[in-house]
Amino acid sequence: GLKYFGAATDSPGFRERAPYVEQYPKYDQIMWKSGEFGQTTPTNGQKWLFTEPEQGVFNYTEGNIVTSKARKHGMYLRCHALVWHSQLAPWVEAKQDWTKDEMRKIIVSHVTRVATAWKGQCYAWDVVNEALNEDGTYRESIFYKVLGEEYLTLSFKTAAKVDPKAKLYYNDYNLEWPSAKTEGAQRIVRLLQKNRIKIDGVGLQAHLIAEQPPTLDQHIDAIRGFAKLGVEVALTELDIRLKTPSNPTNLEQQKQAYKNVVGACVQVKGCIGVTIWDFYDPFSWVPHVFEGEGDALLWFEDWSRHPAYDGVVEAL
Ligand code: XIL
Repeated sequence: GLKYFGAATDSPGFRERAPYVEQYPKYDQIMWKSGEFGQTTPTNGQKWLFTEPEQGVFNYTEGNIVTSKARKHGMYLRCHALVWHSQLAPWVEAKQDWTKDEMRKIIVSHVTRVATAWKGQCYAWDVVNEALNEDGTYRESIFYKVLGEEYLTLSFKTAAKVDPKAKLYYNDYNLEWPSAKTEGAQRIVRLLQKNRIKIDGVGLQAHLIAEQPPTLDQHIDAIRGFAKLGVEVALTELDIRLKTPSNPTNLEQQKQAYKNVVGACVQVKGCIGVTIWDFYDPFSWVPHVFEGEGDALLWFEDWSRHPAYDGVVEAL
C-alpha cells in the first residue's frame, strides 16, 4: 500500500493563473479539506530563485505558505528542490568561472540554510533535481561545469547532515520506463551508496503524454530497477497531458495512462507514494510550456472530474 496520494500546490500569488480568485474557495476546499489528498509539495516556493534570490539573502515566505498548510492539515510534505539548474537565482550563473571552492561554499550554504528552514517538516527532500540528459550523461549545469559529480555527493552529504530524518531523493523526468536515462539515475544512486552518502529514494516526476503512454510493464520494470538498489521510489510530479481540446478518445487514453502508472506504483513494493503536479487544470504548468497541450490533471476548469479520476481510483 502507498503511504500517500497527494497533490502539489502553489501559494496563491505564484499560481499559473493568478489571480483567479473566484475559484479559490472551491480549490482550497478540495486541496485541504476534502480528504482527497494526504500529501503535498510546494510547486515553486522552495526553489533557489525564491529562497536565495541574492547570494546570502534567504527568503522562505512563499514556501512557508504551503508547508504551514500541510502541517495544519496533517499531510505528508515533500520538499522541492535544493539543487537544480532551472529556476536558479541568476547570481549563481552570472559568474561562469567560480572556483571549485567557491562553488562548494555556495552549495553548502544554500543546502544548509534551506534544509534548516524546514528541518523536521519534510517527509522527503528532492536534493538534486534533473542532473541528467536523455542519454544518461550529466547535464552541463553550472554545478556540473565547476564541480563535476562532486556537486551531487556534496549536496546529499550536506542535506543528510542538516536534516537527518528527511528522506533524500534524486528526482528527474523520463525515468518512468527503462532507458539510458534510468540507467544514469541508477548510476547516481550507486555513486552515493559507494561513497556511503545517504540517498533514500528516486523520484520519478512522471510528466507523461496521454497519446504516447508507456505500458504498465515498462513502468513496473523501471520502478523495480530502482527498488532493487535498495532505495524507495515515488511518483513526484504526475501529470498526463493531451492535445487540446480534449475529446472522448484522448480522455480515455489519459484514463488508462493514469491507471497504469499509478497501478505500477501500487504493485511494486518500494514505490511509496504518488503526487500529482497540482490537481486543477487551470493551475497546471503544462499549457505554458507545451504548446497545444493541456488538461493534464484530474479536475477540469469547470470542476467536473476527468475520466482519469476513476482510472486512479481503480488503480489504488
Ligand atoms: C514547474 C512549475 O509547475 C511551474 O509553475 C514553474 O513555472 C516551472 O516549474 N520539473 C520540476 C518542477 O521539477 O519543479 C517543475 O515545476 C516542472 C518540471
